[in-house]
Amino acid sequence: MGRVEGKVVLITGAASGVGKENALLLAREGAKVVLTDVNVEGVQAVAREIGGAALALRHDIASEDDWHTVMAATLKQFGRFDVLVNNAAILAMGTIEETTLDAWQKMHRINADGYFLGCKFAVAALKEQGGTIINMSSLAALSGLAHFCAYSASKGSVTALTRSVAAHCKQRGYKIRCNSVHPDGILTPMITSLMANIDPANITTQGDPMARMCLPQDIANLVLFLASDESRYINGSELCIDNGQMAIDA
Ligand SMILES: NC(=O)c1ccc[n+]([C@@H]2O[C@H](COP(=O)([O-])OP(=O)(O)OC[C@H]3O[C@@H](n4cnc5c(N)ncnc54)[C@H](O)[C@@H]3O)[C@@H](O)[C@H]2O)c1
Repeated sequence: MGRVEGKVVLITGAASGVGKENALLLAREGAKVVLTDVNVEGVQAVAREIGGAALALRHDIASEDDWHTVMAATLKQFGRFDVLVNNAAILAMGTIEETTLDAWQKMHRINADGYFLGCKFAVAALKEQGGTIINMSSLAALSGLAHFCAYSASKGSVTALTRSVAAHCKQRGYKIRCNSVHPDGILTPMITSLMANIDPANITTQGDPMARMCLPQDIANLVLFLASDESRYINGSELCIDNGQMAIDA
């Protein structure tokens, strides 16, 4: 038996980086996975790698209509829905002085509105049977990153939303857990696109294994645990995955 055998897991932003790694690991552990992204060729390629346990769908997380379509397609294909991994996001640099209102609103439309919609649709779908919501936040929500003003604020929104959803579901007696995940930098296209000269080999194979940058697999291992019943008493929590960085910053 896999650790998430029989569960149906919807992962947004599954064409790349962490979302792709989540999809591969969860499918290996027995889940049926619904892979969504604005990059439809990307999720189709990941779904082909997985086979019959995967469904690939085009999905803009900021679109309420798309959420209706994706939830309906999930139930039609697999007959149930158990876990949402709100993972898709965008990143842009800019301090408070550099960030325009347009840039701020674009960021929040995806990184905040998209997660709100995901939670809203997931709670509606899960409130009778129970399930789990995993929201990808960031260390940026907990520390002060001067150069990522709008991104940090959008991840702060995800973090507070997570607590509110967890509290609501607990008060209503829904068996829905909702947790946020807070990584430091992860070696994915989101980061490598900002750092043109990055050499992954140097980052991942230094003598000290604790000195390397976080890899998508490190996050997928935590997401697998949160998606499984092994984490059944973890709810409303902020889980840092940062090799002690917050402990140093504190
Ligand atoms: N990479 C890091 O250093 C890092 C650190 C902390 C947190 N995170 C978070 O981890 C999550 C995964 O990031 P990643 O590093 O794998 O990024 P990534 O850029 O590799 O993947 C993000 C995916 O989201 C998709 N996407 C973007 N906008 C979308 C939209 N409107 N609707 C649907 N899909 C959309 C992209 O097409 C892409 O496939 C994000 O929530 C990110 O904020 C990343």
